[in-house]
Amino acid sequence: MHVLITGGAGFIGSHLAELHLAQGHKVHVVDDFSTGSPANIEPFVHNPDFRFTEADIANWPELSQTVPWADRIYHMAAVVGVFRVLDEPIRVMTTNVQGCDMLLAAVHKGGWKPQVLIASSSEIYGPRVDDKLSEDMDLIIQPDAPPRWNYAISKLADEALTLSYGHIHDIPVSIARLFNTVGPRQTGRYGMVIPRFVRQAVNGEPLTVFGDGQQRRSFVDVRDTVVMLDQVAGKASTEGIIVNVGHDREISIMDLARLVIERAGSDSVIEIIPYEVAYGQPYVDIRRRRPDTRRLHSMVSHRPQWTLEATIDDLIRAARQARDTAPA
Ligand SMILES: NC(=O)c1ccc[n+]([C@@H]2O[C@H](COP(=O)([O-])OP(=O)(O)OC[C@H]3O[C@@H](n4cnc5c(N)ncnc54)[C@H](O)[C@@H]3O)[C@@H](O)[C@H]2O)c1
Repeated sequence: MHVLITGGAGFIGSHLAELHLAQGHKVHVVDDFSTGSPANIEPFVHNPDFRFTEADIANWPELSQTVPWADRIYHMAAVVGVFRVLDEPIRVMTTNVQGCDMLLAAVHKGGWKPQVLIASSSEIYGPRVDDKLSEDMDLIIQPDAPPRWNYAISKLADEALTLSYGHIHDIPVSIARLFNTVGPRQTGRYGMVIPRFVRQAVNGEPLTVFGDGQQRRSFVDVRDTVVMLDQVAGKASTEGIIVNVGHDREISIMDLARLVIERAGSDSVIEIIPYEVAYGQPYVDIRRRRPDTRRLHSMVSHRPQWTLEATIDDLIRAARQARDTAPA
């Protein structure tokens, strides 16, 4: 199989590349390195089945030639992370919506019908407090803080575009609403919580909890996510499939901080940071974000193998190794 991955030098995309190379597939990654990095693709950059192009997906001259090569396309490229979303609200909209539109238009014009999986996000459920978030729920977009919700709006627009291309041009599409995904290669630079906590615990610094710490999240290991994404993409349909991809175990951010400290055997304390201080502006956080995984489990055979504790232990080990081998 030929697999094209936009944003494939990023966190999830690089694990997708690794999975497909291990299956003997040919993989082409396009990435502009805006949040991804060469280090993420370094383990397989010399693999003859791997090809990399550094380019902005919305401005990539080879897009129309490359798309017909692919049997499957994962569209992972997007402006992500709370810090970038708040700092660059226009870029969030243009990159995320234009990039998706241009990709789907190229698929349509190519006349070939690869399986297309688009990465959406649990953010689109908005500030709901339901026990579990289901794919058929109404979505909430608050009107009073446009930059805050631009990421969710851009992902919703991507979903609408994807379903429309699928329906009107008979392209087999699927949409993965990804919940908090964690694991190796994720950076804490743009606001992701677990890489930040692990780095702070390993360095003996205070763990910085934003808000009151009672907001609850569900985490899934990226090595489980990519297997599930592969299985979801294999079921792409011209009717379009929307599916939550995540784990339904829920934990408060305060308990997560305690868990990281305990697993690291660290002396770190926990420091509460108000949102205005953390983000430099008021911020509406989502109190709960836990997926209803019934649709996912009806579609895919894979069940998450990584517990949160095992993922945290793995990240602590890697962070200690990086710290101890860093040049003085
Ligand atoms: N990690 C999560 O918990 C999570 C949750 C929900 C949704 N998602 C979605 O999953 C996808 C991958 O996220 P990730 O966590 O791996 O983030 P990431 O930042 O590591 O990956 C995104 C990649 O896209 C690249 N990129 C951005 N704009 C680009 C452009 N215009 N052209 C080419 N490349 C571009 C970046 O350099 C990066 O490598 C994103 O679409 C994101 O919205 C992730």
